[in-house]
Amino acid sequence: MLTDLEMPLDARPEVLLPTGLEPDRQGSFTSTAFEADRYRRAARAISGQSLPAAVLDLDALEANARAMLQRAGHLPVRLCSKSIRCVEVLRRIQALSPRFKGLLCYSGREAAWLAAQGFDDLVVAYPTVDVADLDAVAAQLIHGKRIVLMVDDQAQLEAIAARGAALNVVFSLAIDLDCSTLHPSLYFGVRRSPINTPAAALDLARVIATRRSTLRLTGLMGYEGQIAGLQDAVPGQALKNHILRSLKQRSARELCKRRRTTVAALRAAGFPLEFVNGGGTGSLEITGTDPSVTELAAGSGLYAPGLFDHFHQFHHAPSLYFALQVTRKPTAGIVTCLGGGYIASGPAGVDRLPRPYLPDGMTLLKREGAGEVQTPVKLPPGIDIPIGAPLFFRHAKAGELAERFTNFLLLQGGKVVGRASTYRGDGQCFI
Ligand SMILES: Cc1ncc(COP(=O)(O)O)c(C=O)c1O
Repeated sequence: MLTDLEMPLDARPEVLLPTGLEPDRQGSFTSTAFEADRYRRAARAISGQSLPAAVLDLDALEANARAMLQRAGHLPVRLCSKSIRCVEVLRRIQALSPRFKGLLCYSGREAAWLAAQGFDDLVVAYPTVDVADLDAVAAQLIHGKRIVLMVDDQAQLEAIAARGAALNVVFSLAIDLDCSTLHPSLYFGVRRSPINTPAAALDLARVIATRRSTLRLTGLMGYEGQIAGLQDAVPGQALKNHILRSLKQRSARELCKRRRTTVAALRAAGFPLEFVNGGGTGSLEITGTDPSVTELAAGSGLYAPGLFDHFHQFHHAPSLYFALQVTRKPTAGIVTCLGGGYIASGPAGVDRLPRPYLPDGMTLLKREGAGEVQTPVKLPPGIDIPIGAPLFFRHAKAGELAERFTNFLLLQGGKVVGRASTYRGDGQCFI
């Protein structure tokens, strides 16, 4: 590893540390010194690279992938492509273990595009009735690829069957089972599928069966977003964490039963489901205990973005972050970077803002946040960052950063070892 003295002077970030940061008697550093060291290492790793840059630490990525497999018990994990959005990363993760089996895609055209690049066993997790989407999928089905479309409404069946008839193709379908739960005065879940009972799933399955020449039911998905996507160990909100955890437990009990009875009802009625998908990064342990589930879905845990920092059952190391260049110093204690307004989707709020990452202790300004062209940050006392040096941030969500950069700088052993093109770099934009 390079020492500070070996760094080219012009690229060397000047971090003025507060006093008292020498190694203690045991030779270990105080935490602030340790953080400053982490900043120096991160800055050194990308020295000479053009900024802004998205940086993917392959060592952390692989460690997260292995940890996710462990958390998934014996079940295979279908990678959620929306949370990755980089073909090379999908390939690298799938190459780690045959238990990373198949992809959970977010659009029909995306699944078709991935199929054309050699991927197979693709499930599109969100319904589509777009003709171009269906035609792209049909073209890959004709080539022998396995792509499954998601449905939860008869109107979707009509649209898909019409394209099937026009193209002489049989589309494989999975039913999306709603996994939200209703508690006294609280709807706990997402608004997606209206199919929330075994009877409703059976009704839809029977309609599919009447369209044998164009439709075939092959699977079921039951994603419990309120368990997989909600942090339950957020510092400073002990009571809310406690309530959330008990709500999650109650919700899991009820929806696992719903998923089990739905799967049993479909099988008993002669629908031999090839797969039952459930879960997400935040629920691998819980969903894995449902015996009706044959595979788990996950993606965010690979990059471990800001909104996955505080779950009580696991912690994954941030592997994807971005570096902005300090270009101005408006006043003492504040530096301003070029770019940075990479806000995450979802209910608008501070938790959707990028997380200042390194050096530790810097904060965004309340009145400006992360801006379209400029992001000012307040530095921790005693630390100065020179113009030209990088500051590091993390996105709140996993895959969306790939929409902002054409490639990720790949780090291994603390050094840049290459670049991986993102979907954006590949000229792709699906939704
Ligand atoms: C259908 C479905 N499955 C699983 C997931 C979990 O994905 P991740 O692990 O990336 O959070 C999501 C996330 O929104 C989803 O929509």
